[in-house]
Amino acid sequence: MGGLTLPCLTTVTLLTGLLCSVIISVSACSCEIRNNHEKFCDADFAVKAKVRQVTLASDVFSYRVFDIKIQKVFKSYSGLTIGDNLNLTSSANAERCGVLLTEDIEYFLSGSGSPPTSLGLCSWISEWSKMTKEETRGVRGQYQCGLPKISSEVAED
Ligand SMILES: *[C@@H]1O[C@H](CO)[C@@H](O)[C@H](O)[C@H]1NC(C)=O
Repeated sequence: MGGLTLPCLTTVTLLTGLLCSVIISVSACSCEIRNNHEKFCDADFAVKAKVRQVTLASDVFSYRVFDIKIQKVFKSYSGLTIGDNLNLTSSANAERCGVLLTEDIEYFLSGSGSPPTSLGLCSWISEWSKMTKEETRGVRGQYQCGLPKISSEVAED
């Protein structure tokens, strides 16, 4: 573990994690091809949150710490609640699947981890104001999860 695998913490399976580590060693972020509906269903958490502060830190690799305030909870296996503040990390390097969020902007954030500790490009993350009506309706309850997985070949984003 440590800095090298940090961006991979957002991936769901061990297999994907290993794949991710291998890909990181050749400096590229690669994600399974999934549409947002599938990403939402696979996520351990999905929230609307405002970024309060962004801090750059480093151990082996540089990473950012996003201090977020939760405004809405769409999905959580760890009891996230409106008004909670969380510090989530992400690699400072997009090639390691790091995401860059801006202070004072509201985002839709999802990913793995209960409780969540990190964010990565393989999860569905979007500025809240840039989501489509279908997407906001989807995360508010219209996305059906638990149905057989849609093949990514026929899935639309
Ligand atoms: C997040 O990090 C900031 C800066 O280090 C700290 O002031 C704040 O208390 C932390 N918040 C939580 C919820 O841990």
